[in-house]
Amino acid sequence: MSKTFKEIKCTVNKEEIICNIEYGASLQDMLRENGYTSVKQGCGVGECGACTVLLDNIPIDACIYLAVWADGKTVRTAEGEAKGLKLSPVQKAYVDKGAVQCGFCTPGFIMTSSAFVEKHKGEKINRDIIRKEHAGNLCRCTGYEAIVEAVEHVAGKEG
Ligand code: FES
Ligand code: FES
Repeated sequence: MSKTFKEIKCTVNKEEIICNIEYGASLQDMLRENGYTSVKQGCGVGECGACTVLLDNIPIDACIYLAVWADGKTVRTAEGEAKGLKLSPVQKAYVDKGAVQCGFCTPGFIMTSSAFVEKHKGEKINRDIIRKEHAGNLCRCTGYEAIVEAVEHVAGKEG
């Protein structure tokens, strides 16, 4: 049976990309094929959060989101968070607080945390909110405490 393809145009990390994509392909596959390998392949069924990207600044699991749905939208992946060699405040906090061990979950966590920090700018936050809004991201290594500490360090600030 012949496959059906559609040309889509979306913005990934501020760069416009155009690709001819099979209707059933996931956004995860499309991004990885275009070099955005920070989008990890974990469970493939929306359970682990390793593939988290921001779609129009909202965290989603790219493994269960069709690439064709991203037509006309903006996507952010962990590759786009640093400015050259300068880590984003969230990335720096993860490093400083020791929130990275094997690193497999880290790009997905970074995207969830970045959206969290932007959403709660200037608000009073606490560890329960951090845990609740990161519940879609799983980590096998850290025990989560260092991750929560890293997010707490940057969240709730103005600016
Ligand atoms: S790989 Fe997408 S949620 Fe696990
Ligand atoms: S640091 Fe290894 S899975 Fe999170």
